[in-house]
Amino acid sequence: MKIMITGAAGFIGSQLAYDLWKKKTELVLVDNFSYGSLDNLTFPEHDFTDEVLHLDIRDREGIGSLLMAGDVDYIYHLAGIAPLPDCQTDPQEAVSVNVGGTVNILENARRYGVRKVIFASTNAMYENAEVFPTAETGFGLPSLIYPNTKYAAERFCQSYCDTYGMNVTCLRFANVYGPHIDCLRKQPPFVGYMIRELYYGRTPVFHSDGSQKRDYVYVQDLIDLALLAQEGNGFDCVNVCSNHSYSVNELYGIAQEIMGKQIGAEYASSDNYWKKYPQLYEGAYAIRPEVLEKEVTKYTLCSYGHAKEKYNWEPKISIYEGLRRSIEYEVSLFEKMGKGKE
Ligand SMILES: NC(=O)c1ccc[n+]([C@@H]2O[C@H](COP(=O)([O-])OP(=O)(O)OC[C@H]3O[C@@H](n4cnc5c(N)ncnc54)[C@H](O)[C@@H]3O)[C@@H](O)[C@H]2O)c1
Repeated sequence: MKIMITGAAGFIGSQLAYDLWKKKTELVLVDNFSYGSLDNLTFPEHDFTDEVLHLDIRDREGIGSLLMAGDVDYIYHLAGIAPLPDCQTDPQEAVSVNVGGTVNILENARRYGVRKVIFASTNAMYENAEVFPTAETGFGLPSLIYPNTKYAAERFCQSYCDTYGMNVTCLRFANVYGPHIDCLRKQPPFVGYMIRELYYGRTPVFHSDGSQKRDYVYVQDLIDLALLAQEGNGFDCVNVCSNHSYSVNELYGIAQEIMGKQIGAEYASSDNYWKKYPQLYEGAYAIRPEVLEKEVTKYTLCSYGHAKEKYNWEPKISIYEGLRRSIEYEVSLFEKMGKGKE
């Protein structure tokens, strides 16, 4: 079996690659390294550094040339611009990559007979949901740029299934955490951020009062479901979540316990997060404060009933064990980088 992974140098793609490599799968790995890193590609038993093709998912001929032999069975399409502020501050690029890039993957998959595409979507599209736990159906359409790019990409996935009889499953990830989570970028995901601040002995700044709760799923649980999702024809959307929500303060408490450190957090207003992106406040129409506040304090809780029914999948890793493994990895990365060289 031959499998292509786009976004292979990223947090999730790199670990999916390692999991499939251990299963002796032939791999085609693609990333343009706009966010991914070489560190992600080095595993205890294998180094993918020289195997990842530096390619943009929007490159029509480049992607086509990898598929034209007709021997790629599945594509895990994970490449995309995920950070919310990056999408909000450069919407043209976000749409170009997340929507246009996805259409390029779909079109080439169509031409060259890929058996199934498994697309990394998001539960961020439940931004305006009012029913919890949120199932795959019956949610309000999103407002922000990032979830809209994923929603639009899902629509094209369905279009290709309806029009050409292709097979696509959109996996709507909740907040994913685990080893390789980005901890170095300007505003890393919360789990990466809190571990980094604790490691360096700094006071973390949390937005709002830290009571906001989100649904977190451990990366290996996600990979287990992503592999099961090779089964199933036509178009489908499946939540990948834990149906457990944890607050910022709860997660920080567990991380402090595991790392044996007690550092009081500082609490800042929600717009403190967004003020780092002044372009959102410039121009004739500035971003509306209530949208920012809503995003920072947003509650997410999703149902995995569909995944359980269709694939008999349930998340296995507890939040404590998942955070322990995340911390172990991140600390080893910081040690490798050398203290102070962050
Ligand atoms: N991590 C989460 O909590 C989460 C939640 C919901 C959905 N997702 C989605 O899952 C996917 C993977 O997420 P991740 O956390 O591993 O993100 P990531 O940023 O670590 O990985 C994405 C990878 O895509 C690559 N990429 C970006 N634009 C590209 C382009 N034009 N061509 C080729 N490669 C490109 C980046 O370099 C990066 O390596 C993303 O599509 C993201 O939107 C992630």
